[in-house]
Amino acid sequence: MKSTYRTVYGRIENVEFRDLPMPEPKANELLIKIKASSVNRTDEGGLLGKPYIFRFFVGWPKPRYVATGTDFSGVLVQKGEEVEDFEIGDELYGFLDTGLGTHAEYCCIAMDKPIFKKPKNISHEQAAASLEGAHYAYYFLERVNLKPGDKVMVNGGTGAIGNAAIQMLLARNVNVTFTYPTDSYEKIRDLKTEKKIDYLKEEFTLQDTLFDFVFDAVGKSSFGACKRILKEGGIYISSELGPKGENIPLSILGLFSKGKRVVFPLPGNPKNSIAYVKSLLEEGKFVPLIDRVLPLENFTEGFQYMLTGQKRGSVVLVMES
Ligand SMILES: NC(=O)c1ccc[n+]([C@@H]2O[C@H](COP(=O)([O-])OP(=O)(O)OC[C@H]3O[C@@H](n4cnc5c(N)ncnc54)[C@H](OP(=O)(O)O)[C@@H]3O)[C@@H](O)[C@H]2O)c1
Repeated sequence: MKSTYRTVYGRIENVEFRDLPMPEPKANELLIKIKASSVNRTDEGGLLGKPYIFRFFVGWPKPRYVATGTDFSGVLVQKGEEVEDFEIGDELYGFLDTGLGTHAEYCCIAMDKPIFKKPKNISHEQAAASLEGAHYAYYFLERVNLKPGDKVMVNGGTGAIGNAAIQMLLARNVNVTFTYPTDSYEKIRDLKTEKKIDYLKEEFTLQDTLFDFVFDAVGKSSFGACKRILKEGGIYISSELGPKGENIPLSILGLFSKGKRVVFPLPGNPKNSIAYVKSLLEEGKFVPLIDRVLPLENFTEGFQYMLTGQKRGSVVLVMES
């Protein structure tokens, strides 16, 4: 079977595309014929092994999996004798931020990993694109108590996290304003939000509106800049550490404040986020934004594009059937 292949952390240009022996599932494992997998920002950490602390989770001193990839949508083709929850032929999908080695035609995954039956109303490409960004969006939003009608500002509505967050917020009847780059208007036009701001033409932190929550989904702004558009008691969350790594210390100070404050959430178990997002997918309340779909052998191109930080939603790799 074809697979991405590396034994050390480093540049995508050093990852090979190899023919590997067909994997054999152990007693507690499922053998999945992968149909689609995304190339995402979590794969960046698993590829480079950076920040170095990440290596404690993805493999030390070398990557745990020779194949890159954290998510998948595919078909169960063989299973170990202990696997009871799933049957051969089931369409399954899943995600694990510490890696699964899914940029390959087949993959063995232990049954205790976050694996779900794929919603019937979506394709494998859509399923793969519904996982990574939505997982983080779920955990970032979980730390804020929002009521219908509250006002939320999302910076970065074309990112995988930001776009998923907007749709989750709309599902909760929250009033959303968000930013997007000029050339992506077509991709976000149909989102029924209060306001859409072209960030190349207007600075969102200079609005007159006050928000209950500012979510900097691309981590390009700061608490200092967003303070003026936060209501008293409003919350700022960023997907990044912030200029000079300030968001963690600010979030500690925020524990002692009832005023405008920073919260820095750590993502939890994907079983919770996938279960929630799956219900949204089945109700038609979440449509994953897909930037482009590439064949597996073009994984280098997919990674190079993802690493520019310019993807709109997800880059998806598809495996030949
Ligand atoms: N904390 C965590 O656990 C965690 C986990 C995963 C990812 N992350 C981080 O979260 C961030 C977002 O990841 P993602 O996958 O959602 O992003 P992404 O898919 O890589 O895309 C970012 C999008 O935002 C747009 N953008 C760039 N600068 C912008 C700005 N100043 N204002 C508005 N839009 C802008 C980009 O388009 P243009 O460049 O064309 O404008 C692009 O469409 C990344 O920095 C990633 O490293 C954090």
